[in-house]
Amino acid sequence: MMRAFDLALFVGLASLGFCAGDLARQDAFITYSEVSRMKNERNIATVAAVSLVSTYGQIRLRLRRDWAPQACEAIAAMAAGPLRACNGCSLYRHEPVPQNWGVSGFNGPPYALLQGGMPGMTNKVKMENPKMLPVLWGTAAFIADTSDFFIGTADHREWGGAFTVFAEVLPEDMAAVVSRIPVEPYRNSTDTFNITTRWLIQPIPFTLESLRLDEIPTAAPLHEASS
Ligand SMILES: *[C@@H]1O[C@H](CO)[C@@H](O)[C@H](O)[C@H]1NC(C)=O
Ligand SMILES: *[C@@H]1O[C@H](CO)[C@@H](O)[C@H](O)[C@H]1NC(C)=O
Repeated sequence: MMRAFDLALFVGLASLGFCAGDLARQDAFITYSEVSRMKNERNIATVAAVSLVSTYGQIRLRLRRDWAPQACEAIAAMAAGPLRACNGCSLYRHEPVPQNWGVSGFNGPPYALLQGGMPGMTNKVKMENPKMLPVLWGTAAFIADTSDFFIGTADHREWGGAFTVFAEVLPEDMAAVVSRIPVEPYRNSTDTFNITTRWLIQPIPFTLESLRLDEIPTAAPLHEASS
């Protein structure tokens, strides 16, 4: 079952041709010099959170280096350097939380997540989840060996530790921004496992911004580092 779900996330990506990847990489090179002039680059070690900035507002991801140090390093480096312009980056999948989520083992469809991609990311994020943390409401995870990630809008214990859980979304941003991102119009895609996923017809572009500890509200961590 797990494998099927895992694949569903990948297959959807591939079948809809979400890979403006090559084009985005080219754009990234073209804009490199312009962007690097905009703002001084920041020391990656001081990046405590990465913000996904779109017309809907900021979704701030508090990095959990204790959960997935390499994934945090990779996104912090991107947000702190010239690639933060994030050409081609978008939120392209937002599946609502269905009624009866979790009742009698019902876990979708729809699948209760907000997913996006960063095609200009130079190093894809490897699978990294030694603690086998599940994706929970308000946590963000990379899909192994891609530069695509998703935020749980419900608890996803059904997927076990299959994803690289690397950050917590600030609860105020879950409420004020994530919940405002439209879930439609969308199109369905049904894969060979008969799993139907939803893809936004108009992906929402975002750029990245790095934040230091003193630039984010102090709050108790949402989730303890345990499953
Ligand atoms: C997507 O599939 C679901 C379930 O089969 C269906 O209820 C819904 O109307 C479909 N939506 C679109 C936009 O095709
Ligand atoms: C595929 O899933 C739909 C809805 O979940 C179901 O109605 C249909 O019977 C399934 N088809 C196959 C071939 O399993």
